[in-house]
Amino acid sequence: MNQTITAFFITIAIAACNDNGTKTNTMNTSAAQTVNHVSAMPWGETDGRKVQLFTLVNQKGDSVSITSYGGTLVSWTSADRSGVRSSILAGPSTLEQFLSRPPYFGAIIGRYGNRIGGASFTLDGKKYTLPANDGPNTLHGGIKGFDKMVWDAAIPDSTRPSVTFSMVSADGDQGFPGNLKVSVRYTLTDENEIRINYEAVTDKATPVNLTNHAYFNLTGDVKNLVLDHSLTINADSYTPVSATLIPTGVIAPVEGTPFDFRAAHKIGERIEQVKGGYDHNWVLNSKGGKLVKVAELTDAASGRKLEVMTTEPGIQFYSGNFLDGKFKTAAGSLITKHSALCLETQHFPDSPNKPGFPNTILQPGQTYQSETVYRLSVQ
Ligand code: BGC
Repeated sequence: MNQTITAFFITIAIAACNDNGTKTNTMNTSAAQTVNHVSAMPWGETDGRKVQLFTLVNQKGDSVSITSYGGTLVSWTSADRSGVRSSILAGPSTLEQFLSRPPYFGAIIGRYGNRIGGASFTLDGKKYTLPANDGPNTLHGGIKGFDKMVWDAAIPDSTRPSVTFSMVSADGDQGFPGNLKVSVRYTLTDENEIRINYEAVTDKATPVNLTNHAYFNLTGDVKNLVLDHSLTINADSYTPVSATLIPTGVIAPVEGTPFDFRAAHKIGERIEQVKGGYDHNWVLNSKGGKLVKVAELTDAASGRKLEVMTTEPGIQFYSGNFLDGKFKTAAGSLITKHSALCLETQHFPDSPNKPGFPNTILQPGQTYQSETVYRLSVQ
């Protein structure tokens, strides 16, 4: 164990506090000192609520920082092939920047990830109108989605680096029906995986589609565009979209198109053939339900490999087309077009208006459960 890692392990462990300052679980130095670790620090305030930054460290010395503002992944630091540590997540590093409406860097997305066409849907004969925040459509849950909430935080387990965020989205929040109780647990495993477990219950039928909006750049430096990363997606089909990025409803084969990632392709190889760049939902062959590997991203320069496992039936591969240099990383580098990409596990966009797509309506009495794992290694 090198000195840096030892230093983490002898750090005094932490009490996670929920919003009203109540201790929810306390790790002390005696029990968990030489095992995995969680620390918390104050990270500012918004909406009259205190925000915290949690850092999870595993036995390999990987660390993940996550803030209770939006339940947002802020950094994931790991070694590349030559042992140099850097964060593979692109995004800002201060609460102030997160408050200035960035494009969802690392955040929990809800109540409905991606778009709902025409900012409305009909459920059980009643039409619900949502705020339109992306042309005529609703994107990522509305004007104040889950990414802009301060979540309650708790450390559920003193034996593993894990933090759980929870909150209630009230009946009528952003136009959606039903009080929705949501919890999202992040765990950093010793296999260098971030496991994300989502759960939700409601008291009225409502659409739910939760995801995480991490932007990855496996080189650890956004100055290197992700066009040289290679991607594999285990999907025979995808959902083509209209001009405002709403699925047409067709499930189209990827065969013979630039959307065919069944064998690895560099992202830059065929991107010019896709108007605007990649920003589409792939229909996973795994079909959802079971935790299955669905995608793999590699970067030859750093040797890093990111594998994605999910219980979701779809994945949005977004090649950072709208990143415009407005935000900077902790190192001061501008986050520009194609300097990072997202692999957002999900149900298909606009499902509440597409009866042919897998169901996204959660009923009272049911529990929404979804799991996604991002596993990082070097080769
Ligand atoms: C969407 C993009 C959108 C981005 C927000 C992605 O999930 O598919 O169209 O621009 O999120 O930054």
